[in-house]
Amino acid sequence: MEKWWQSAIIYQVYLRSFKDANNDGIGDIKGLIGKIDYLEEIGVDTIWVSPHYDSPMDDNGYDIRDFYKVSEDYGTLEDFKELLKEAHERDMKVITDLVLNHTSDEHPWFEAAKDPNHPEHEYYHDFYIWHEPKYEDGKRKRPTRWIGWFGNPAWTYNEATDEYYLHIFSRKMPDLNWRNPEMRKAMKKVIQFWIDLGVDGFRVDATNHLEKNWDFPDGYPGYENFSSLPKHHEYLQELGRELFHPNDLMIIGEAGGATREEALQYAGFDSEEFNMLIHFEHCWVDTDETNTLTPGKWAKGTVDITRLKESFYRWYKVFKDKGWNAIYWHNHDQPRIVSHYGDDETHWERSAKMLACALYLIPGTPIVYYGEEIGMTNVDYENLEDFRDVEVFTEYENFRRNGASHETAMQALRDRSRDSARSPMQWSDAPYAGFSEVKPWIPINSNYETINVERQQQSKSSILSTYKTLLALRAKENLNFADLTFYDISHPQSFNYLSTGEHHEYLVLCNFSEKPLTMEFPLDLQTFDVYYSNVDIGKAERKSEEFAPYEARIYKRKRQ
Ligand code: NOJ
Repeated sequence: MEKWWQSAIIYQVYLRSFKDANNDGIGDIKGLIGKIDYLEEIGVDTIWVSPHYDSPMDDNGYDIRDFYKVSEDYGTLEDFKELLKEAHERDMKVITDLVLNHTSDEHPWFEAAKDPNHPEHEYYHDFYIWHEPKYEDGKRKRPTRWIGWFGNPAWTYNEATDEYYLHIFSRKMPDLNWRNPEMRKAMKKVIQFWIDLGVDGFRVDATNHLEKNWDFPDGYPGYENFSSLPKHHEYLQELGRELFHPNDLMIIGEAGGATREEALQYAGFDSEEFNMLIHFEHCWVDTDETNTLTPGKWAKGTVDITRLKESFYRWYKVFKDKGWNAIYWHNHDQPRIVSHYGDDETHWERSAKMLACALYLIPGTPIVYYGEEIGMTNVDYENLEDFRDVEVFTEYENFRRNGASHETAMQALRDRSRDSARSPMQWSDAPYAGFSEVKPWIPINSNYETINVERQQQSKSSILSTYKTLLALRAKENLNFADLTFYDISHPQSFNYLSTGEHHEYLVLCNFSEKPLTMEFPLDLQTFDVYYSNVDIGKAERKSEEFAPYEARIYKRKRQ
């Protein structure tokens, strides 16, 4: 039987940057409530809200101080209930982030855990992961050389207990000990609280890191010791059995780097874990392996279209009839898609529309990231001080240590940092882009006067109109359930596929490149009509094989 989350269309709201209602420069829940009509208008029916919990905001709320409290930056619990009410009245759903791997170091559990004089020290100490120091030549050393995901050493010393604690993200985010049943019990209480309040599901953060190698072998960077260890599935299954599945929730698990072999275990129809999976396989098909100054995801190369198509097609096939797929270009952890895989200068508008065509007729539950629908771009941050993300500062130091110049390091950060995709939503050309009446917590993109919602709402040919058209089509034709056939996977420029809905077939043809392309049509176009095009094409040219840079067309025909 069809589940509600299968036909959903999700929009991710990065709360801090979406809309500031109380004019303190920070987006908030009331701001979001004021924009629900906008979300409804673009064709979204589920809102994913990034962490809204009380937090010192070392990692913008992924470092939680109190799971039961709403951050004062964002409002109150009453505001959150209001959000649920407003959404539910419109038949929309709300899912929240659920952060299981760590807490803030200011969480009362950690406050007790780190302090031997705390009355509950003994109980909470084992909520976290500790190790005694190593000594070399009489000098205190970290237990291992493991490096966390933000590029910093994964252990920090706690003098009061003479131990190191493990943190695979920032040092203000100590990792929880999932082997401890008491900790799991406490976490289940948290989850139950939000279910009882009425949330419709969760996007579960960093799920593949829950288990660690408790032998703590040395290694550099050592990821294999704290990521994707098989036992993390047991913890997820426990939550799935007891909380997620009995409550008919939408559960989207984030497991960066998850393999297709693991896919069904995470999100197969008979999985006890999630309903769908975020894996990011297609998110970095443009890295330059030869770059040693700003290596890894920071090394910008050319987009490998073949790998991109392969990735989408294989994940589709893995889940076909056996599980459920989520489709997305990006989120708050990757650069803006039009800057990343499109062209944010000469072909900004056309490439943003092409990217929409390339993704949004693929089956699965789609996730639109805020601002994507108006083609928001990466930000031209001028100075290091303009950035906010904790990860940026450790990585900047790493790049400089590798020998990168200040400018090379800055360019890598502009191109690839998470802050590039976290600037305030561009609502209008009013001061501060209509996001707030005061200076926002992070700089506004200087292009807000030309790229903004208000302007695009007035034009039938805007990127926003394309999103509305495609999302409406998706809902009407139930394309979340479509069948998919990709063509010419090995072609380095085209991105062509057929999406077969209940009544119609849609042939999507994209020139995924800044060069013109003579398209080889995979099917005879005689029986198709043009449904959509991102260039102004006259009747005669509708079946022309000549595709301009980033041109995309969608052809439609009745199912035979
Ligand atoms: C994944 C989240 O998407 C990211 O923003 C965060 O920094 C880490 N998990 C740690 O919670």
